Parts: sequence; structure tokens; C-alpha cells
Amino acid sequence: MNNELPNKQLVARSFGKAAARYDDVAVLQRQTGDELLERLSLVKLQPKRVLDLGVGTGRNLSLLAKRYPKAQLLAVDIAPAMLQQAKQRYQQVRGLKRWLPDNNKPMYIAGDADQLPLAENSVDLVFANLALQWCDPRMSFAEIQRVLRPDGLLMFTTLGPDTLYELRSAWATVDDYPHVNMFYDMHDVGESMMEAGLAEPVLDTDRYSLTYDSTMSLMKDLKVLGAHNVNQGRRRSLTGRQAFKQVADAYEQFRTGDLLPATYEVVYGHAWGGNIKTQQVDNDGSVSIPVSQIKRRQPS
Ligand SMILES: C[S@@+](CC[C@H](N)C(=O)[O-])C[C@H]1O[C@@H](n2cnc3c(N)ncnc32)[C@H](O)[C@@H]1O
Repeated sequence: MNNELPNKQLVARSFGKAAARYDDVAVLQRQTGDELLERLSLVKLQPKRVLDLGVGTGRNLSLLAKRYPKAQLLAVDIAPAMLQQAKQRYQQVRGLKRWLPDNNKPMYIAGDADQLPLAENSVDLVFANLALQWCDPRMSFAEIQRVLRPDGLLMFTTLGPDTLYELRSAWATVDDYPHVNMFYDMHDVGESMMEAGLAEPVLDTDRYSLTYDSTMSLMKDLKVLGAHNVNQGRRRSLTGRQAFKQVADAYEQFRTGDLLPATYEVVYGHAWGGNIKTQQVDNDGSVSIPVSQIKRRQPS
């Protein structure tokens, strides 16, 4: 794994700026969020505490509240402006019920998935839709494993390296700078999950194609989403009009009919909280697990 770490301040700043208009263009995020919730409905869980990690404008927060009416919700995001939107949206969705007691009563916490401001063994379900691609997978999975209870569940989506390959190859005709974020592939993601001690990780990928009438409209959407180029090695100087024209011309090779496709490779994953925290690692590297801790998982 040799992707550069994203610049966290830049991530927080660009999502902060994006918060107000994000919902207008978050088409992919809605689709993968629905799919993730659908997959979650196949698992029998009665979580006491649910973390929506990288909650964004909070669309999934109300859906999680509906699914688990007794669970306390935690909404974490690196961008405080996103948390503000999530809070407003949650109240709007509750409508008049907002005057009634709320078992779910979300806590909104500004924080980084790579350094979660949460206690260990404190969460039963981590739900992270299209947020972990902005993180260091080794750190974020280790943090998720730390806060998950041993039988807790992680359900997430992230982006794979084929994401926006058309735009990446169009930019490659202009210069050698990384203009499109780099994403980890499924094997790296799986390896980081295993290293973190998460149990029974399962991963698969799916491709989505969004279409645009021009390269400019794609780039505008990416900007509104806050999905800026956060590579440390990105070009720092302003990009000229001529370069944008060259990108647009190069992108034309992908045009199908009237439209330009933008591919997103979405990685879906889940895993259970491992028992590493309570296991004893012996001198020879083997792990002793007390018999009392060996139990069957609930059937899914
Ligand atoms: C593409 S949005 C997805 C939002 C939401 N999960 C959804 O489904 O609409 C990514 C979110 O992750 C947040 N984010 C990015 N990096 C993060 C990090 N290191 N820790 C916590 N949140 C992060 C961003 O601020 C943004 O709100």
C-alpha cells in the first residue's frame, strides 16, 4: 500500500464548504447508502449504540433511527458544517415528533475516523457510507476495531481505484500531477481490516456509471460534493483554461451518444468486531481465547 495520506485539513475544509449544496448532487451516495441499508436488513441486530461515521448531511441517520428505534445514535464527521446539516435534517425528518422524547437522540461529534474520539468497546454498529476513502485504511480500521464491541458489526462502502478513471486518463494528457484522488483497492482494504483484527471480513465491488453532458459539469459536481483533489502531491498552482480544454477534449473519447460517463468503483464491506482486545497473545504468537468467549454468531 503506497497511496499518500489525504490532507485532513483540506478534506475538512472542502466538505465544510460543500455542506449546504451537497444533497443536490449526492446521487451515488444515496444509491450506495440504500444498498448498504438493504444489506444491513439481512443481519439480525439489536444494537444499543450505532455510529454513522462520516455522517455528511445525515441522510442515513434518520433511516438508521427508524431501523433501530431503541439505539442511541452517534454522528461523527470531520467537517463541523456537515454535522450542522445532519442535525437540522434529523429534526426536520422528525417533524412534530421532535417535541417528544427521542430514544435515538443523536450525539453530533466532530472527529476524525483515523482517531475516533470514542471509548473502546462502546459501539455495536458502525455504518460508514462513502467516507472511509478519505482516510488511512490502516488507522481507520484499527480505530473502528477499537471502538466496536466484540460482537459489533461494521458495514461500509468506500471507493476503489477505477473510480473516475476516465477523468484521470484525460488529465494524464495534460501533466503528471495526480488530479484525481487515489483510492485503495479491495485487497489493500481487506488486508488493513485483517491487520486491525476485525473478524470475518467480506468485500465485494460494484460499478456505477453516472453520466454528464460535459466534462465541466462533472467537475462542477465533484466540487459541489466537496470531493476535491486532496492528494499531497497535487498541483499547487492554478490550472489554466488551456489545460481544462485539453482535459475536456481528451475526455471526449469516452462519449457514448450524447453523454459522458463517469465510472465509480464502489467497494462494499462488512466485518465483525474481533476479540483481540480481550484475547491473550502468547509468547509464540498464538492467541488464547477463554472458552467463555467462544460463542456462535447470530444467524444472518
Ligand atoms: C461523500 S460524503 C458521505 C456522507 C454520508 N455518509 C452520505 O452517505 O451521504 C463523505 C463524508 O465523510 C466525511 N469525512 C471525510 N474524511 C473524514 C474523516 N477522516 N473522519 C470523519 N469524517 C470524514 C466528510 O466530511 C463527508 O461528510
